[in-house]
Amino acid sequence: MLEVKNLKAYIDVDAGVVKAVDDVSFSIKAGETVGIVGESGSGKSVLALSLMQLNPKPPVFYPQGEILFEGQNLLTMKESELRKIRGNKISMIFQDPMSSLNPIFRIEKQLIEAIRTHQDLSRKDAERKAIELLTDVGIPDPERRMRDYPHQFSGGMRQRVMIAIALACRPKLLIADEPTTALDVTIQAQILELLASIQKKYGTAIIIITHDLGVVAKLADRVMVMYSGRIVEEGSTADIFYRTSMPYTWSLLRSMPNIGSAGNERLVPIQGQPPNLITPPKGCNFNPRCLFAGPECLEVDPVLAERGNGHLAACVLSQREFNERKRQLEAVEREGVRG
Ligand SMILES: Nc1ncnc2c1ncn2[C@@H]1O[C@H](COP(=O)(O)OP(=O)(O)O)[C@@H](O)[C@H]1O
Ligand SMILES: [Mg+2]
Repeated sequence: MLEVKNLKAYIDVDAGVVKAVDDVSFSIKAGETVGIVGESGSGKSVLALSLMQLNPKPPVFYPQGEILFEGQNLLTMKESELRKIRGNKISMIFQDPMSSLNPIFRIEKQLIEAIRTHQDLSRKDAERKAIELLTDVGIPDPERRMRDYPHQFSGGMRQRVMIAIALACRPKLLIADEPTTALDVTIQAQILELLASIQKKYGTAIIIITHDLGVVAKLADRVMVMYSGRIVEEGSTADIFYRTSMPYTWSLLRSMPNIGSAGNERLVPIQGQPPNLITPPKGCNFNPRCLFAGPECLEVDPVLAERGNGHLAACVLSQREFNERKRQLEAVEREGVRG
């Protein structure tokens, strides 16, 4: 359904050109849920906005690539054509629902407008549809709540309203950029469950973007790990969590609490800072922070290569070498803790 080929999204700034998305390729099948994870600043949002062609142009420009949605290239499409796809076949929800809701209009008006932009319905039918959508996203007493203004909703409920608006057009693809980051843990879990139920009920493909591996573990079938504007590992959720191939992914996993753990494991923060995207390091972008980097890593910029069954990783180490280094390091660390 969606195929991104060798996409570059660069940004002109005073200091030079930020390579926010740097030669990224991937595809999304209908009905699939794909996670994109990576630290803050790795290019996730610029990538997501590229898919909707919503990055401000300038400063953002696209020196290379194709974004094929149902066979049509969004990169070369006219704005009038794009408008038919945006919020129609592809919808997006953001971290902060308040920035997308208009504070001076009732939810009812905003929802009905979203419905009638895409469907030729009478006001009465659109109203009925609005109630149905609010019910779908779990808003209790929707007939009454529709008459409220955004500020009368809690953060979690506002995010549900945003999801209802995003679903108003029955999109084939829903892009959710850090949709639960601003919410507390319980509400976060509820919103993730809601997204999963929507995926099941309507077969909507979902791209979920987050810095939180716990979120993708709960929701995604497949995961892409982003580092400094590139995809450095991609695979099934099990590949990423249990057959990790790229030292960055492993570092990211070690820096976060385990899913379902009692919270007593040792967390190891990733050393150093994400690289400067204007002048990335020579060789592998991750080499200055990588615990396994050798001389080769300062020279070779590894490409994303097949590790079996669609599991891809960008690292000069083979799976065996990586597992071996990991074992050695973990043994040393255990000694360190004991000593
Ligand atoms: N409009 C912009 N102008 C200048 N730099 C930007 C702009 N948008 C994003 N960036 C830069 O692009 C890089 C990627 O940002 P972003 O995609 O927002 O990261 P993420 O979503 O992974 O946290 C960062 O270095 C960020 O500072
Ligand atoms: Mg972001």
